[in-house]
Amino acid sequence: MASPSQIITLFLLLLGAFAEARDPFACDPKDATTSNLPFCRVSMPIPARVKDLLGRLTLQEKVRLLVNNAIAVPRLGIKGYEWWSEALHGVSNVGPGTKFGGAFPGATSFPQVITTAASFNATLWEAIGRVVSDEARAMYNGGAAGLTYWSPNVNIFRDPRWGRGQETPGEDPVVAGTYAASYVKGLQGSNGERLKVAACCKHFTAYDLDNWNGVDRFHFNAKVSKQDIEDTFDVPFKMCVQDGNVASVMCSYNQVNGVPTCADPNLLKKTVRGQWKLDGYIVSDCDSVGVFYNTQHYTSTPEEAAADAIKAGLDLDCGPFLAQYTENAVTRGLLNEADVNSALTNTLTVQMRLGMFDGEPSAQPFGNLGPKDVCTPAHQQLALEAARQGVVLLKNHNPSLPLSHLRHRTVAVIGPNSNATVTMIGNYAGVACGYTSPLQGIGNYAKTIHQMGCADVACADDTLFSEAINAARQADATVLVMGLDQSIEAEFKDRTGLLLPGRQQELVSKVALASKGPTILVLMSGGPIDVSFAKNDPRIGSILWAGYPGQAGGAAIADVLFGTTNPEGKLPMTWYPQGYVSNLLMTDMAMRSSPNRNYPGRTYRFYKGQVVYPFGHGLSYTNFVHTIASAPTVVSVPLDGHHRSGNATISGKWIKVNHAKCNKLTVGLQVDVKNTGSKDGTHTMLVFSTPPAGHWAPNKQLVAFAKVHVPAGSQERVGINIHVCKFLSVVDQSGVRRIPIGVHDLHIGGVKHSLSLQPATLGVIKT
Ligand SMILES: *[C@@H]1O[C@H](CO)[C@@H](O)[C@H](O)[C@H]1NC(C)=O
Ligand SMILES: *[C@@H]1O[C@H](CO)[C@@H](O)[C@H](O)[C@H]1NC(C)=O
Ligand SMILES: *[C@@H]1O[C@H](CO)[C@@H](O)[C@H](O)[C@H]1NC(C)=O
Repeated sequence: MASPSQIITLFLLLLGAFAEARDPFACDPKDATTSNLPFCRVSMPIPARVKDLLGRLTLQEKVRLLVNNAIAVPRLGIKGYEWWSEALHGVSNVGPGTKFGGAFPGATSFPQVITTAASFNATLWEAIGRVVSDEARAMYNGGAAGLTYWSPNVNIFRDPRWGRGQETPGEDPVVAGTYAASYVKGLQGSNGERLKVAACCKHFTAYDLDNWNGVDRFHFNAKVSKQDIEDTFDVPFKMCVQDGNVASVMCSYNQVNGVPTCADPNLLKKTVRGQWKLDGYIVSDCDSVGVFYNTQHYTSTPEEAAADAIKAGLDLDCGPFLAQYTENAVTRGLLNEADVNSALTNTLTVQMRLGMFDGEPSAQPFGNLGPKDVCTPAHQQLALEAARQGVVLLKNHNPSLPLSHLRHRTVAVIGPNSNATVTMIGNYAGVACGYTSPLQGIGNYAKTIHQMGCADVACADDTLFSEAINAARQADATVLVMGLDQSIEAEFKDRTGLLLPGRQQELVSKVALASKGPTILVLMSGGPIDVSFAKNDPRIGSILWAGYPGQAGGAAIADVLFGTTNPEGKLPMTWYPQGYVSNLLMTDMAMRSSPNRNYPGRTYRFYKGQVVYPFGHGLSYTNFVHTIASAPTVVSVPLDGHHRSGNATISGKWIKVNHAKCNKLTVGLQVDVKNTGSKDGTHTMLVFSTPPAGHWAPNKQLVAFAKVHVPAGSQERVGINIHVCKFLSVVDQSGVRRIPIGVHDLHIGGVKHSLSLQPATLGVIKT
């Protein structure tokens, strides 16, 4: 006989098993009437299964599958499905598709994307995607999440005030595109057409303003030139689709040149699906269709709005609008049922690629993943590793860092973010497995004296200053953890300026003046902060930027402070002085500077003025020296057979990319990186190119990046391949990509290499 406690244990075990078991979404083998229908046959090709299923649906059923909370079709054995889940840097609780609690109290919360971007490590980006999708699949199997994730956000961080800049990989299109492709590959897996989860690159396009000076994203018409679209705004999306094979793209709320993006066939049908060949579905931002009808008054009837969106290429509405108005749009002849069918073909195909029509989830790939696969020690270790790789050392005077646990036995830990937990995971986060705050992290190395200094990041008054100053007087070193949080920069909240909020700056200066030992300033923020005061204050020895470093952020910060981690992060965005934004309209989308209208231009590619810290800045505790081991000095660009003698091809100054044989046309470089310091370190190598002068060209642009670990005193060789057509081209005012003929200067750290690009002459094609 079992004892009562054994029975209770058995009962709990069964409960646990039930928590893990999700009923099949469709094609339940226990339901003989539906599981034998052709669309359930795993052996049949997916297009044929989709066609069969579509043929069985009525128009009334179809229109109610065009929305995020798709209805059930019980007569065909299909359950309802919530399409909206998010996983920006860990499974998130934003979106109704995901629910924490029960068997899934939390999920690994990686650093916010702007921090992860600072690692410039594409291997890490993909590894994070793999872990997140393991946890997402586990939660799906347990009935706690969906399989369609509307992440990542790959808009360009164009203006430093943008509240959602934190969600992005920064201001450089190539970094953003590489991030997109890597993270998406990690999420989606690499099993042919089969998807582990479906990712989504958003928000297409020119969306990078939330709410500034009375202008919000729902009303904003982004006026964007063809040139800026081609060489800035489109780049990450194109790379996401072509290199990452993403299963979805999301159109944004704003208009681009007068047309709502979700109603623009040029953007959706022609570009994303036609030119880039998206194999997946296009979804609206949440209620974009409702927004362009109700808020922008883009059409006069809701049926026209529904018809415009679907005809433009929208396949799924996050929001109720298409379920409400599409049927009438068809009845009134504004839309053909065939248009509805193409939209559904795209969404149903993704659901089939996810295995949702293959019967029992437990019998499928990843069917074994469950609660034991979430928040594992290995996953949490990767969150810590990501934070370590993302911390950026901005200043190290004397040097003040690293601290020594022998000499700095007592550390004053001060500031509104000194004991941060939820702040460290930024927005679009979930419930973390647990946290290590900076105070806890530093506490693992030294005795701490803790003072908030300010009640919160707004730091409205100085009532807590004197205790903070006293703490700094007593300690062997002082660490101030300052910066921002979601009350200052967030979705629907752009900043008005770039300085530290309230009286934070005053606290830092006063504490630094009183400190007995070195004073270290640690900043948490998504956007850049004008910390010129600290950069110029000799009493502030070092400055670290941690972004929002995720659940293990405090441990990573402490590891850098005490030198068990040698910092390797680099800024993924320019840190401008406050003066940069004082006369700059956030609504002005132009990337290029325009001296005659006193317009400074945006990002390191086009802005030439003063900066606090430049894009790519980041120090190490050691020194790296580059030498070029081998690199070509002349590269011939072969022309496509049809254009060898054409004038259109070579103007004397340019070769149109369309007219060049681009396939495999790369420039190969070998660079030696020597660690001349006394500490092992990992070097983040950024390769920039300055094209021949001309007013289309940027000041410089990133053309490659690589990471290499180099022990103290030794040297490693790094191979770099630069795709000529993609990365050495510039874009003219009509949006046409051209390769400038002549000398391109490559810059790697302090080294410059000149590379001459020449058209291959007839018959003498050098490669
Ligand atoms: C990049 O990140 C991965 C995953 O954390 C790590 O294994 C690898 O060492 C990193 N690369 C370098 C060069 O540090
Ligand atoms: C730090 O934060 C943790 C978690 O929020 C809390 O339990 C702890 O009391 C805080 N420590 C101090 C010294 O405020
Ligand atoms: C190049 O263009 C000029 C005028 O624009 C024309 O006279 C000439 O024939 C063209 N040459 C070739 C090879 O097409």
